[in-house]
Amino acid sequence: MLKKIGIIGGGNIGGVLAQELAKRNLAKQIALVDVKEPDLAKGKMLDISEGMPVVSADTVLEGSKSYEVIENADMIINTAGVPRKPKPDGSLPSREELLSTNLKITDIVSENVKKFCPKTMLISIANPLDAIVYRLNMQLNFPRERLMGMAGVLDSSRYRFFIAQAAGVSVENVQAMVLGGHGDSMIPIRSACRIAGMPVEKFVDPDTLEALENRTRKAGGEVVKLLGVGSAFVSPAWSALEMAEAIIFDKKKIMPVSVRLEGEYGVEGLFIGVPALLGANGVERIIEMDLTDSEKEAFKKSTEAVRKTTSEVDALIQ
Ligand code: APR
Repeated sequence: MLKKIGIIGGGNIGGVLAQELAKRNLAKQIALVDVKEPDLAKGKMLDISEGMPVVSADTVLEGSKSYEVIENADMIINTAGVPRKPKPDGSLPSREELLSTNLKITDIVSENVKKFCPKTMLISIANPLDAIVYRLNMQLNFPRERLMGMAGVLDSSRYRFFIAQAAGVSVENVQAMVLGGHGDSMIPIRSACRIAGMPVEKFVDPDTLEALENRTRKAGGEVVKLLGVGSAFVSPAWSALEMAEAIIFDKKKIMPVSVRLEGEYGVEGLFIGVPALLGANGVERIIEMDLTDSEKEAFKKSTEAVRKTTSEVDALIQ
C-alpha cells in the first residue's frame, strides 16, 4: 500500500480510478484534482467517501480544484485532457486532432507535478498518448523509470478479448502484446499471441485473425461511436491499475508500456509501446522481443507515425 496516490482529471477515467484505488486498498490516501466547476473533484471524492463504510475501506479521499491536494503523492495517474467525441458530421477526430488542446492542459499538469510532487511515479493516460508523455518528459525531465504511458495494456486487453471470443475460450487463456504507438499504426504481435501456451493459429484462422487485428486498431473509435459522448473509460482505468499494482506490489510484471526508448528497437528519444518490466522502481527493464520481418516493418511504420506526432508537438510549442 502506498501512502498517497494522486489522480489528475476527475472525469470518466479519473472517477473509475478513484473508486477502484479505494476499493482495492492501494493507498492510505487518494487525492483527486480537477478544474471543473463548481467542484467536480470534491463532489466525486465525497460521493466515494460516503460509500466507504459499505465497502469496508478506510481510505482517505480528498478532491479539489487546487493542485495542492496532490502534494507529496508517491504516484500520479494523469487523465487530464479532452476525450474524443464524434464531430457534428459524425466523423471522429483522430487522437492527433486532440493534440493542441491536450498539450495546453498537459503543460498545466507538468507545472504542478514539478511543484507539488517532483519525486513521484507518473503514469499518463491522456491522448494522443505517446505525444503527451513525450511532452511531459520534456517538461519534467524525469528518469525514464518514473514516467510512462498507459496504452498497450488496454490495446492488448482488447485484442485478447476479441481472440478469446473467436476461439471460444476464457479470456484468461489468451496472452498477447500490442506494441508501437497508440493509434492506427499499433501492432498486435501475432507471433507472441498464445492460447494456453499454444500458438493462436491453432484456434483462429488467418483471415479472422487479420480482421480481429484490424478491429483492435480501431477499437477505441468503435466505443467512441457507440457512446456518442466521450471515449472508453472503464477498460482504460483498469489497464492503468494493472500497471499501478505491478509497481505498488513490486511484481516485476512484463506488459506493454509507452516508455522513452534509448536505442532499444533502434529508436532514440521517442515514447513508444514496448514490453517493459514493472516493479517498485517503475520501468525496471525493457525487453527487446524477437519480431518477425513483417512485425519489424510494422514497428518501423508505427515509429514513424509517433515521430510525426511528436514533431507536431515540437512545432506547436515553438
Ligand atoms: N487540470 C485538471 N483536470 C483537468 C484539466 C486541468 N488543467 N483540464 C481538464 N481537466 C479535466 C476535465 O475537467 C475533465 O473532468 O480532465 C477531465 C477529463 O475527463 P473526461 O472528459 O471525462 O475524459 P476521460 O474519458 O476521463 O479521458 C481523459 O484520457 O483516454 C484519454 O482521450 C482520453 O485524453 C482523454 C483522457
